[in-house]
Amino acid sequence: MCGIVGYVGKNQAPSILIDGLNKLEYRGYDSAGMAVHDGKNINMLKTKGRLSNLIKLLIEHPLKGTLGIGHTRWATHGAPSDINSHPHMSEDHVIAVVHNGIIENYMEIKEELAEKGFHFVSETDTEIIAHLIDSYYKEGLSFEKSVFKAVSRLEGAYALGIICRDCPDTLIAVRKGSPLVVGNGNGENFIASDIPALLNYTREVYFLEEDEIAVLTPDDIKIYDKNENPVKRDIYHVTWDIEAAEKSGYAHFMLKEIHEQPKIVRETILKRVPENGEGIVLDNIKLGKEELDNIDRIYVVACGTAYYAGLIGKHLIEKVCRIPVVSEVASEFRYKDPILDDRTLLIVVSQSGETADTLEALRIAKRSGARVLAVVNAVGSSIAREADDVFYILAGPEIAVASTKAYSAQVAAMYILTCHIAVAIGKMSKDEFKAVKEELYTIPGKIEYILQKESVEKRLAEKYKGVRNVFYIGRGLDYLVSQEGSLKLKEIAYLHSEAYAAGELKHGPIAMIDENTLVVAIAVQEELIEKTISNIKEVKARGAKAMAIAMKGNTKIADVADDVIYIPRTMGLLAPVLANIPNQLFAYYMALNLGTDIDKPRNLAKSVTVE
Ligand code: F6R
Repeated sequence: MCGIVGYVGKNQAPSILIDGLNKLEYRGYDSAGMAVHDGKNINMLKTKGRLSNLIKLLIEHPLKGTLGIGHTRWATHGAPSDINSHPHMSEDHVIAVVHNGIIENYMEIKEELAEKGFHFVSETDTEIIAHLIDSYYKEGLSFEKSVFKAVSRLEGAYALGIICRDCPDTLIAVRKGSPLVVGNGNGENFIASDIPALLNYTREVYFLEEDEIAVLTPDDIKIYDKNENPVKRDIYHVTWDIEAAEKSGYAHFMLKEIHEQPKIVRETILKRVPENGEGIVLDNIKLGKEELDNIDRIYVVACGTAYYAGLIGKHLIEKVCRIPVVSEVASEFRYKDPILDDRTLLIVVSQSGETADTLEALRIAKRSGARVLAVVNAVGSSIAREADDVFYILAGPEIAVASTKAYSAQVAAMYILTCHIAVAIGKMSKDEFKAVKEELYTIPGKIEYILQKESVEKRLAEKYKGVRNVFYIGRGLDYLVSQEGSLKLKEIAYLHSEAYAAGELKHGPIAMIDENTLVVAIAVQEELIEKTISNIKEVKARGAKAMAIAMKGNTKIADVADDVIYIPRTMGLLAPVLANIPNQLFAYYMALNLGTDIDKPRNLAKSVTVE
């Protein structure tokens, strides 16, 4: 989704804005631009396409000034084009605005402004914001007051960066529903959609809350609520390094993040299941026997990859704890008229903590009195702040659009939560927990082992690079892993692929199987393997190629599948996190062979802040 950066200080803004936009590229975008105040006027450059196009423009037409706003746009209203790119300016170039999100009532405001004689040049919802602020400014309100008044009229979800021709050292930031952080520097201050854009300059940040407005000058940051009351906010010190948001020699962020998984899963496990401790440490998360006794139903709600991680959680909680769990994709949750009350626990899963649909599900649940536990990566994100309890997964910044390390850490979190609930309600004995705990500690090393053998997936991606149709199949937990595997291949290799419960194939989709089809069978749930082997035989009999993922020692499957990727042996319930690693690597190398933009796949955005 769109990326915002803003700077006010003593240094030249353009290079700082470009550097920040560069760090936000992972969010996905189709055009870029900036507006810089030269002391007298606001000058603007913007263009369709990559940041490199904007840099080229900047070389041809250099901008100078110590106040500026920059933007990468992910089109919502109006196609990607120079004119629809941000910033947007008022007609006489008094106000310039960059925006992330959607203004739902923009048509109504546009008509009202048009009647007053304002003219519009773009198809965007953003342009009306510049004109609306300008209209109040022209009525005689100050820049600040004009922003407050305009914002009180806007409906939707948005983050804004705004500058004014007559205020050469003031940058205003607004946050409602879309992420925005304020960076506190020395004689310079910043705004950005995400922390990596700031880390070259400062580690001291403020997370703006909903409906807050920040007014930044080189030496001051003032934060106000929507009623213009000053707000005191604690500063947050970012502890991770910029290297965590850089490629460190890997060809892609995705590959780097795949390789970070042993470390991340280890940290997620050790923080909650310390080696020298007795049980599970959930810190302040209120999920003891008493709270659990007050819960009648659990929902697990999320989007995309986070949803597939949540599905594993649902399966585990039901299987081990014998508590019914309903799982829903967040974008559908509200339409199901979910049964929610104060005896409901909603578990939301989100890497970014900003996904609009997931956030909305959380709010619906909270309004109905339900408790919300968020399994989140991004510290200080909206979902983390609004949930009753937060289980941070400690995956560090995930830059590649396709989620890999966050999924593994989310699944690890699901193992831990399941064990915690099971022990608390007496469904897992101390000895059983001890056995799971010992096996859990081996998981990071086993991920490492799979990664060391990545030449296997590389070779298979070379072998199958010509296929255009892929089915991922599995039973039970293996089916859930299939879903994530299929999503990964679709999103980065742009290949048509579908995940099917292995037993469902013959109820329809088998009609599509022919000699151009690859079937990837996940077969690590050993009690189900015989049946999956039969399904492999069925597709082979119809000409498909079959690649299986199985646990070491399973030789039977090698007799039917064309290729088998073996993972180290583990308990069936813990196998999903291992079985998914070959899927990630296979998708990565397939995409590499097909020459796609792996870290920034077309049409996708990292943090989906619109519904
Ligand atoms: C796929 C992917 C997406 C996200 C989804 C939810 O690789 O990354 O499907 O999982 O958009 O995002 P978060 O976890 O940030 O809520």
